[in-house]
Amino acid sequence: MARLKLAVLISGRGSNLQALIEACRNPAYPAEIVLVLTSEPDAPGLERAKAAKIPTRVVDHHDFSDRPAFETALTAEIEAAGATLVCLAGFMRLLGGEFVRRWRDRLINIHPSLLPAFKGLHTHERALEAGVRVAGCTVHFVREETDHGPIIVQAAVPVHPGDDAATLAARVLVQEHVIYPLAVRLIAEGRVKIVAERVVVAGAGAPTGALVNPAFEL
Ligand code: GRF
Repeated sequence: MARLKLAVLISGRGSNLQALIEACRNPAYPAEIVLVLTSEPDAPGLERAKAAKIPTRVVDHHDFSDRPAFETALTAEIEAAGATLVCLAGFMRLLGGEFVRRWRDRLINIHPSLLPAFKGLHTHERALEAGVRVAGCTVHFVREETDHGPIIVQAAVPVHPGDDAATLAARVLVQEHVIYPLAVRLIAEGRVKIVAERVVVAGAGAPTGALVNPAFEL
Protein backbone atom coordinates (compact mmCIF):
# COMPACT_ATOMS: atom_id res chain seq x y z
CA MET A 1 0.00 0.00 0.00
CA ALA A 2 1.23 3.50 -0.83
CA ARG A 3 2.33 5.47 2.20
CA LEU A 4 0.54 8.68 3.10
CA LYS A 5 2.75 11.64 2.24
CA LEU A 6 3.21 14.12 5.08
CA ALA A 7 4.34 17.72 5.17
CA VAL A 8 5.43 18.68 8.69
CA LEU A 9 5.40 22.39 9.58
CA ILE A 10 7.69 23.47 12.40
CA SER A 11 8.98 26.66 13.99
CA GLY A 12 11.24 25.44 16.78
CA ARG A 13 13.07 22.50 18.27
CA GLY A 14 11.10 19.84 16.35
CA SER A 15 10.81 17.08 18.93
CA ASN A 16 7.40 16.09 17.57
CA LEU A 17 8.91 16.10 14.10
CA GLN A 18 11.56 13.74 15.47
CA ALA A 19 8.87 11.41 16.82
CA LEU A 20 7.26 11.32 13.36
CA ILE A 21 10.65 10.75 11.69
CA GLU A 22 11.26 7.79 13.96
CA ALA A 23 7.81 6.32 13.35
CA CYS A 24 8.32 6.63 9.60
CA ARG A 25 11.62 4.72 9.83
CA ASN A 26 9.58 1.58 10.36
CA PRO A 27 8.79 0.26 6.86
CA ALA A 28 5.44 -1.00 8.18
CA TYR A 29 4.38 2.51 9.21
CA PRO A 30 1.83 3.72 6.66
CA ALA A 31 3.17 7.28 6.22
CA GLU A 32 6.35 9.06 5.12
CA ILE A 33 7.54 12.64 5.50
CA VAL A 34 8.12 14.23 2.09
CA LEU A 35 8.67 17.80 3.29
CA VAL A 36 9.59 19.74 6.41
CA LEU A 37 8.49 23.34 6.06
CA THR A 38 9.18 26.31 8.31
CA SER A 39 8.81 30.05 8.38
CA GLU A 40 11.87 30.34 10.63
CA PRO A 41 15.21 30.09 8.80
CA ASP A 42 16.91 29.22 12.12
CA ALA A 43 14.44 26.62 13.37
CA PRO A 44 16.62 24.02 15.15
CA GLY A 45 14.25 21.29 13.96
CA LEU A 46 15.51 21.76 10.40
CA GLU A 47 18.68 19.92 11.42
CA ARG A 48 16.62 16.89 12.41
CA ALA A 49 15.05 16.81 8.94
CA LYS A 50 18.43 17.19 7.27
CA ALA A 51 19.90 14.41 9.39
CA ALA A 52 17.05 12.18 8.21
CA LYS A 53 17.57 13.29 4.59
CA ILE A 54 14.11 14.80 4.36
CA PRO A 55 13.70 17.78 2.01
CA THR A 56 13.29 21.10 3.83
CA ARG A 57 11.96 24.46 2.70
CA VAL A 58 11.91 27.82 4.41
CA VAL A 59 9.03 30.13 3.55
CA ASP A 60 9.96 33.25 5.52
CA HIS A 61 6.87 35.31 6.34
CA HIS A 62 9.00 38.46 6.25
CA ASP A 63 9.29 37.99 2.49
CA PHE A 64 5.55 38.43 1.96
CA SER A 65 3.41 41.53 2.14
CA ASP A 66 0.43 39.81 3.76
CA ARG A 67 -0.72 36.53 5.26
CA PRO A 68 -2.63 35.26 2.20
CA ALA A 69 0.52 35.62 0.06
CA PHE A 70 2.60 33.78 2.69
CA GLU A 71 0.03 31.01 2.91
CA THR A 72 -0.19 30.67 -0.87
CA ALA A 73 3.56 30.07 -0.85
CA LEU A 74 3.21 27.44 1.90
CA THR A 75 0.49 25.66 -0.08
CA ALA A 76 2.62 25.76 -3.23
CA GLU A 77 5.50 24.02 -1.42
CA ILE A 78 3.21 21.40 0.10
CA GLU A 79 1.59 20.67 -3.27
CA ALA A 80 4.95 20.55 -5.04
CA ALA A 81 6.13 17.94 -2.54
CA GLY A 82 3.00 15.88 -3.18
CA ALA A 83 1.96 15.83 0.48
CA THR A 84 -1.66 15.08 1.23
CA LEU A 85 -1.60 15.42 5.02
CA VAL A 86 -0.22 18.54 6.69
CA CYS A 87 1.00 18.14 10.27
CA LEU A 88 1.55 21.24 12.38
CA ALA A 89 4.23 20.42 14.93
CA GLY A 90 4.98 23.51 16.95
CA PHE A 91 4.28 25.81 14.00
CA MET A 92 3.94 29.21 15.63
CA ARG A 93 2.33 31.29 12.86
CA LEU A 94 -1.43 31.58 12.91
CA LEU A 95 -2.92 30.23 9.71
CA GLY A 96 -5.79 32.05 8.05
CA GLY A 97 -9.10 30.87 6.69
CA GLU A 98 -7.98 30.30 3.15
CA PHE A 99 -5.16 27.94 4.11
CA VAL A 100 -7.34 26.11 6.62
CA ARG A 101 -10.11 25.69 4.02
CA ARG A 102 -7.65 24.50 1.37
CA TRP A 103 -6.42 21.73 3.66
CA ARG A 104 -9.67 21.04 5.48
CA ASP A 105 -9.67 17.54 7.01
CA ARG A 106 -6.06 17.15 5.75
CA LEU A 107 -4.52 19.49 8.33
CA ILE A 108 -3.80 18.39 11.92
CA ASN A 109 -2.16 19.95 14.94
CA ILE A 110 -0.76 18.86 18.29
CA HIS A 111 -1.56 20.96 21.31
CA PRO A 112 -0.13 20.51 24.82
CA SER A 113 -3.40 20.45 26.76
CA LEU A 114 -6.55 18.41 27.01
CA LEU A 115 -8.61 20.53 24.62
CA PRO A 116 -10.95 22.34 24.84
CA ALA A 117 -9.21 23.35 28.09
CA PHE A 118 -6.25 25.73 27.84
CA LYS A 119 -6.26 26.79 24.22
CA GLY A 120 -3.45 29.14 23.22
CA LEU A 121 -0.02 29.64 24.76
CA HIS A 122 1.42 28.90 28.21
CA THR A 123 -0.82 25.88 28.68
CA HIS A 124 1.21 24.30 31.48
CA GLU A 125 1.48 27.50 33.52
CA ARG A 126 -2.27 27.96 33.22
CA ALA A 127 -3.03 24.33 34.07
CA LEU A 128 -0.94 24.63 37.23
CA GLU A 129 -2.52 27.96 38.06
CA ALA A 130 -5.97 26.38 37.70
CA GLY A 131 -4.92 23.53 40.00
CA VAL A 132 -5.94 20.72 37.64
CA ARG A 133 -4.87 17.22 38.73
CA VAL A 134 -4.77 15.81 35.21
CA ALA A 135 -3.10 17.44 32.20
CA GLY A 136 -2.33 16.14 28.74
CA CYS A 137 -2.17 16.68 25.03
CA THR A 138 -4.42 16.55 21.99
CA VAL A 139 -4.09 15.84 18.27
CA HIS A 140 -6.94 17.45 16.36
CA PHE A 141 -8.04 18.52 12.90
CA VAL A 142 -7.53 22.23 12.39
CA ARG A 143 -10.45 24.60 11.97
CA GLU A 144 -10.36 28.37 11.64
CA GLU A 145 -10.70 28.98 15.36
CA THR A 146 -7.30 28.50 17.03
CA ASP A 147 -6.76 25.19 18.87
CA HIS A 148 -10.24 24.05 17.95
CA GLY A 149 -11.40 21.19 15.74
CA PRO A 150 -12.36 17.52 15.77
CA ILE A 151 -10.24 15.64 18.31
CA ILE A 152 -8.42 12.53 17.06
CA VAL A 153 -6.34 11.35 20.05
CA GLN A 154 -5.69 12.61 23.57
CA ALA A 155 -3.35 11.42 26.30
CA ALA A 156 -3.68 12.34 29.97
CA VAL A 157 -0.95 12.55 32.60
CA PRO A 158 -1.11 13.31 36.31
CA VAL A 159 0.03 16.63 37.70
CA HIS A 160 2.49 15.93 40.52
CA PRO A 161 2.85 17.93 43.70
CA GLY A 162 5.78 20.27 43.21
CA ASP A 163 5.43 20.37 39.42
CA ASP A 164 6.44 23.53 37.67
CA ALA A 165 5.68 24.34 34.05
CA ALA A 166 8.91 22.68 32.91
CA THR A 167 8.39 19.36 34.70
CA LEU A 168 4.76 19.18 33.62
CA ALA A 169 5.67 20.09 30.03
CA ALA A 170 8.27 17.31 29.98
CA ARG A 171 5.73 14.74 31.22
CA VAL A 172 3.19 15.85 28.61
CA LEU A 173 5.81 15.93 25.84
CA VAL A 174 6.58 12.23 26.30
CA GLN A 175 2.93 11.57 25.48
CA GLU A 176 2.90 14.01 22.57
CA HIS A 177 5.57 11.85 20.99
CA VAL A 178 3.30 8.84 21.36
CA ILE A 179 0.01 10.29 20.18
CA TYR A 180 1.19 12.28 17.16
CA PRO A 181 2.55 9.24 15.34
CA LEU A 182 -0.52 7.30 16.48
CA ALA A 183 -2.95 9.88 15.08
CA VAL A 184 -1.09 9.96 11.75
CA ARG A 185 -1.15 6.18 11.59
CA LEU A 186 -4.89 6.05 12.19
CA ILE A 187 -5.49 8.60 9.44
CA ALA A 188 -3.13 6.80 7.05
CA GLU A 189 -4.92 3.53 7.70
CA GLY A 190 -8.20 5.17 6.74
CA ARG A 191 -9.71 4.57 10.17
CA VAL A 192 -10.53 8.19 10.92
CA LYS A 193 -13.84 9.71 9.86
CA ILE A 194 -15.30 13.05 10.81
CA VAL A 195 -18.99 12.78 11.50
CA ALA A 196 -20.82 15.95 12.51
CA GLU A 197 -17.49 17.52 13.52
CA ARG A 198 -16.53 14.67 15.80
CA VAL A 199 -13.96 11.99 15.01
CA VAL A 200 -14.98 8.35 14.78
CA VAL A 201 -12.05 5.87 14.79
CA ALA A 202 -12.83 2.51 13.21
CA GLY A 203 -11.64 -0.55 15.08
CA ALA A 204 -10.44 1.34 18.15
CA GLY A 205 -10.18 -0.37 21.49
CA ALA A 206 -11.31 1.74 24.43
CA PRO A 207 -9.06 1.66 27.49
CA THR A 208 -10.70 0.69 30.72
CA GLY A 209 -9.85 2.07 34.13
CA ALA A 210 -9.22 5.63 35.13
CA LEU A 211 -6.34 7.92 35.98
CA VAL A 212 -7.17 9.04 39.52
CA ASN A 213 -5.03 11.76 41.05
CA PRO A 214 -4.21 12.01 43.92
CA ALA A 215 -3.82 8.27 44.36
CA PHE A 216 -4.71 6.73 47.71
CA GLU A 217 -5.17 3.17 48.84
CA LEU A 218 -8.68 3.03 50.26
C1 GRF B 1 4.72 21.09 21.54
O1 GRF B 1 4.51 21.18 22.91
C2 GRF B 1 3.41 21.11 20.80
O2 GRF B 1 2.37 20.51 21.49
C3 GRF B 1 3.15 22.58 20.63
O3 GRF B 1 4.40 23.15 20.40
C4 GRF B 1 5.42 22.33 20.98
C5 GRF B 1 6.36 21.99 19.89
O4 GRF B 1 7.48 21.28 20.38
N1 GRF B 1 2.18 22.84 19.60
P1 GRF B 1 8.48 20.59 19.36
O5 GRF B 1 9.00 21.69 18.44
O6 GRF B 1 7.72 19.53 18.61
O7 GRF B 1 9.56 20.01 20.21
